[in-house]
Amino acid sequence: MKYKIAILGIGAIGSVISKELLIANRQDIDLFNRSPKSIIKVIHQNDTFEKSIDILDIPIKDKKYNLLILCLKEHQIPTAISQWQKLISDETKILVIRNGVNHRLQLEELGITNEIIPAIIDCPTQSTSNAYLQLSNAIITIPKDKNHDLIRSIFKPTKIKLVATNNFHHDIWLKLCFSASLGATQCFYNGPCIIFNSDEAALYFFELLMESIAVANADNGKISKTEIQHILHQVEHYPSEKGSSMLTDFRAGRPIELGAKNGAILATAKKLNRPAKRNQEFVDWLKGR
Ligand SMILES: NC(=O)c1ccc[n+]([C@@H]2O[C@H](COP(=O)([O-])OP(=O)(O)OC[C@H]3O[C@@H](n4cnc5c(N)ncnc54)[C@H](OP(=O)(O)O)[C@@H]3O)[C@@H](O)[C@H]2O)c1
Repeated sequence: MKYKIAILGIGAIGSVISKELLIANRQDIDLFNRSPKSIIKVIHQNDTFEKSIDILDIPIKDKKYNLLILCLKEHQIPTAISQWQKLISDETKILVIRNGVNHRLQLEELGITNEIIPAIIDCPTQSTSNAYLQLSNAIITIPKDKNHDLIRSIFKPTKIKLVATNNFHHDIWLKLCFSASLGATQCFYNGPCIIFNSDEAALYFFELLMESIAVANADNGKISKTEIQHILHQVEHYPSEKGSSMLTDFRAGRPIELGAKNGAILATAKKLNRPAKRNQEFVDWLKGR
């Protein structure tokens, strides 16, 4: 039996994943998106990938998929799941590629009982007027469990690097605490890392980071003192012009994926009855703008 894959959400990340699978000549993938699209165009280093493609806006009647790859923002998932239920049959596994934590819990709360494979991706990709600009090779991290060989086999013929980790819960919390604290500080002080020339911005970052890590560790994130030192050292040595996706979205007036950033930290803090004053202040400030 042929293994059939559906990719839902052909934005920045969905285009990169589709591009890689198409280059690897996989014939068995169907692409679905909210808005109709007729091409995928991704520019990476000196290569431009451009392909006309049927991007579908309704499920194919009675077609069953073995794997559904969700490439959506955290806040888009509830609507998408209700609109695209027909892509999911009993045997469909769902690979959820998004920032943040609680990938499985979000889908379970939406009534999905299928096997969920949570994933994070390191692959900065920006939208330009007519293409996506991919700034580095993609690295996808998933838990090392019974599904990792399957996902590895799917991405093996591509340039995507797959990392299977025994510490997925820790790894996603570490990434979230760092990126949410850095991004929030850059938004609040409206600038890239040059803002850290000011002690005030450095303190803002430090307090956000420590509060976020306390929440992560209350959720068994197991972030160590050495890792905190490493983050502080990294930030201290970042070039002045280093920004973040949060700052880019903020400056472009686009919504920030709060539910996969400071909002996720806040939600966990509330659930575990832990303080998260700094994250709350940032979320309130952002919503008030
Ligand atoms: N971009 C990056 O650099 C990057 C890097 C690392 C991680 N991530 C994470 O990867 C995830 C995906 O981000 P992204 O940058 O790819 O987002 P994106 O560019 O906004 O793409 C989202 C896609 O989902 C589609 N969509 C939204 N709602 C839908 C629905 N109800 N039904 C079908 N399609 C729907 C959108 O369609 P429309 O065409 O209608 O808008 C869009 O094409 C996020 O969690 C993000 O944080 C992104």
